[in-house]
Amino acid sequence: MNNKTAAVTARGLTKQFGDFTAVNGINFDVNHGEIFGFLGPNGSGKTTTIRMMLGLLQPSAGSISVLGMDAHSDSANIRPRVGYMSQRFSLYNDLTVLQNLKFYGSAYGLSDDLLPERIQEALVMAGLEGRENTKTKDLSGGWRQRLALSAAILHRPEVLFLDEPTAGVDPISRRAFWDLLYKLVTPSTDAKTVNEGFQKGVTVFVTTHYMDEAEHCHRLAFIQRGEMIAYGTPEEIKSKKMSGQVLEIAPSNAVEAVKVLRDAKKSGRLVLEEVELYGALVHVIAPDIKDLQSRINTELSQANIHIDQMEIIAPSLEDVFIACMR
Ligand SMILES: Nc1ncnc2c1ncn2[C@@H]1O[C@H](COP(=O)(O)OP(=O)(O)OP(=O)(O)O)[C@@H](O)[C@H]1O
Ligand SMILES: [Mg+2]
Repeated sequence: MNNKTAAVTARGLTKQFGDFTAVNGINFDVNHGEIFGFLGPNGSGKTTTIRMMLGLLQPSAGSISVLGMDAHSDSANIRPRVGYMSQRFSLYNDLTVLQNLKFYGSAYGLSDDLLPERIQEALVMAGLEGRENTKTKDLSGGWRQRLALSAAILHRPEVLFLDEPTAGVDPISRRAFWDLLYKLVTPSTDAKTVNEGFQKGVTVFVTTHYMDEAEHCHRLAFIQRGEMIAYGTPEEIKSKKMSGQVLEIAPSNAVEAVKVLRDAKKSGRLVLEEVELYGALVHVIAPDIKDLQSRINTELSQANIHIDQMEIIAPSLEDVFIACMR
């Protein structure tokens, strides 16, 4: 947001495959220096959108520009200025860490003078110093993703497109990966981070299925079947899209509690918008949840379900996402 022109602008962006519309007239801006999250269930059009941004697919209608240039017709000028981590894994498993970095550095056109320095920076950034000669297939998933990220930024791109970069990675490694993303987007003159070789102020466009990651994005778009159903900061989306309040219940049997409350909703005994299972908890969404608490209590106790705890909580993005998807 340090620049008035957006880093990426999509207007009426549409992609059809034959009769099938994979992306249907979506509009969004990605501001400079932000982490922009693109969320949606499987098959909703996330990768198709990224492929149009990279100029790999031509939109059927509408437009998409990256760094002020048309993503398709100007792709040759855009490519050196962007980085891409594909959903299908982009590293060569039989190559070592160092060989993968050399390969990517050369592919991005880095000169022989620059390559050793950039590789060293990448190794420091990914925390892979000392593991240069490890075969990539012997790294854990979390380390591989960090290596892939550092390979994608060897040429110091201004915009980074990450397609589900943390899918299948454990929560601690996901956290470490996001710490790297924050360092990348944060402009800093701090000597330590500069010495760590971080390029600063990168713009990140990232697709994810993980709602905790969505909460950490500066702004988001939710897509479903190619249509955009929510757009804005996490707080804006929560306040705009969430009409009801959320009651969180810790019952003795959460699965059974969901069933009982859904039955009560279906039969009209309780006016509820949503009843969702959250691990061992149940979230109930309704416009006047406060007035319903005692009746919810009664429904559950009649079914011999004991309530350990019940409180009204702020909606999470997951609550909002589920509500939007219905
Ligand atoms: N080349 C193609 N030809 C025909 N249909 C396609 C093509 N590419 C994608 N699709 C379809 O377009 C829809 C959107 O696919 P896309 O890969 O963009 O979804 P996604 O949101 O990335 O899903 P996932 O979360 O599974 O990665 C899907 O129904 C997919 O089958
Ligand atoms: Mg995809």
